[in-house]
Amino acid sequence: MCGIVGFTGSRQAAPILLKGLGRLEYRGYDSAGIAVVHDGAIEVEKVSGRIAKLCEKTKDGAAVPGTVGIGHTRWATHGAPTDFNAHPHVSNDGRFAVVHNGIIENYLALREELIADGYVFHSETDTETIVHLLELYYDGDVKAAVMKTAARLEGSYALGILCTDTPDALYVVREASPLILGVGVGENYFASDVTALVSHTKNVIYMEDGEFAVLTPDAVTVYDCTGRETKKPVSRVTWSVEAAEKGGYEHFMLKEIMEQPAAVKAAIAPRLHEGRVCLDDFELTAEQLRSINKIVITACGSAYYAGCSGRYAIERLCRIPVQVELASELRYSDPMVDEHTLVLVISQSGETADTIAALKECKARGATVLGIVNVVGSTIAKLADHTLYTWAGPEIAVATTKGYTTQLAVLYLFALYAADRLGRIDEARYKALVHELMELPRRIQQTIDMNWQLPAVASRYSSRSLFFIGRNTDYAVALEGALKMKEISYLHAESYAAGELKHGTIALIEENQPVIAVCCNEAIADKTLSNIVEVKARGAKVLALAFRDNRKIVSQADDVIFIPRVETVFSAALAVVPLQLLAYYAAKEKGCDIDKPKNLAKSVTVE
Ligand code: F6R
Repeated sequence: MCGIVGFTGSRQAAPILLKGLGRLEYRGYDSAGIAVVHDGAIEVEKVSGRIAKLCEKTKDGAAVPGTVGIGHTRWATHGAPTDFNAHPHVSNDGRFAVVHNGIIENYLALREELIADGYVFHSETDTETIVHLLELYYDGDVKAAVMKTAARLEGSYALGILCTDTPDALYVVREASPLILGVGVGENYFASDVTALVSHTKNVIYMEDGEFAVLTPDAVTVYDCTGRETKKPVSRVTWSVEAAEKGGYEHFMLKEIMEQPAAVKAAIAPRLHEGRVCLDDFELTAEQLRSINKIVITACGSAYYAGCSGRYAIERLCRIPVQVELASELRYSDPMVDEHTLVLVISQSGETADTIAALKECKARGATVLGIVNVVGSTIAKLADHTLYTWAGPEIAVATTKGYTTQLAVLYLFALYAADRLGRIDEARYKALVHELMELPRRIQQTIDMNWQLPAVASRYSSRSLFFIGRNTDYAVALEGALKMKEISYLHAESYAAGELKHGTIALIEENQPVIAVCCNEAIADKTLSNIVEVKARGAKVLALAFRDNRKIVSQADDVIFIPRVETVFSAALAVVPLQLLAYYAAKEKGCDIDKPKNLAKSVTVE
């Protein structure tokens, strides 16, 4: 939630800040603002609404002189998305400006204290307390003021700070919110995400919790939480600028759907050697695996639904009980995990607040934590005992697509790896499944190619609320399909385990009610077929999703989306693709803002 950027160098800062904010807009888009130091004073420009409005107001930054600045794009938490609540916030004496990503949990107490001290607040935000604290603690040493201020803050924050007394310097500090420094030549940067940095530099420093840094055009100096200078490794970002651009597609979401064959290949191919799954980044002996009596998968949103699919693969292949828990629930449930539990924590961003909290709860109880994460260097990747990266590349659209399918790919690899190590799969089946995994990217491509007719199908099925049904692995896909539809097209979509229809929901089925039935799990497809017949008897209009050669379904459903045949345990990775496209085309037809759906943000770093 919220994106922050900063620049110090000899070029004009504002256009660079605005471009950087543009790349971070997926993190929040309620309001935007920049502050630059110019002629010894801080100049601020901010607007409620999108960054495009700020670009218009500042002539793409050209109207704002100055070579050092900070910027912010907001997902409102405290206070409505108004001009005065937009960041940056400035101290009463005009000396400091601050941008903040995170939440200050003790802000009310701080606010009362500061008001009693005579400070005047101009916004309803938690962030404004920070800038007044800086003024309070400043006695000529900015570093000391920042450290004293940080010591008063409870919650999460990545802060970017300007001070007029040190006009070429940026100050940053982080606690439980992402912050990355970009190291350039004669200029330096900070941002919430590398996507805002790659067009300038690929040399980055990942800040850790409690660390503080000072950036000038010629130096980046990082300090630990005690104020001691610390040497940080400079990492190289491996992906190109183009990866974070639309590349001719109308929306990032469509581009990312189309990138899935390549993304899934990037997740799988390096982990297959001579026909065997090798998880170099996570090696457990058979003995260690045998000491695990339960696997808990925890995550939020689509990552949770990936876990629901993964559960079937792991249980079927490894015969270890798997419990899938929403992180927001697990964190408060006094979870029954211990040193014999392996916890799989799934997150595209690696920064989801509830997921991080659930991870910490499990670790504190002695569980081994394996992170399945896309963003390199993210909080979850650092906190987990082991991390398997999903290698999806940057995902910009708020609705996840390749993030989700690459999570599935890693879960499948894990299931196969563990089954093999535990000796619970025979060699012929193992070989067959490895082959299926190798084929998965090609089959995803075939799925996309086969489904050129989806815009027309979407048009027929998206006129009102929808039901998504399925059983077992198909139910997991239905959950994700309904979420995609809700979040980007704003159509009401509900997913049900098909066998549950009779227990209440079927009361809602009436003439022309669209029902999307996922029927790729052939062992129980006939059961779902019966449910199709039942809803049709009550007037429903059924769109089924099935393997290409499933002829039975054609006689029952009104329309069928076909996908290539694939091993059932891996079928979610294919079946979800037409559902992503269906949601995309439904949203497009309705004229929705597909990449930035209302009220959402890509990275949910607040509870
Ligand atoms: C839905 C979506 C969200 C995320 C969820 C978890 O399209 O993107 O439901 O899946 O917020 O995010 P990560 O995976 O970053 O932890």
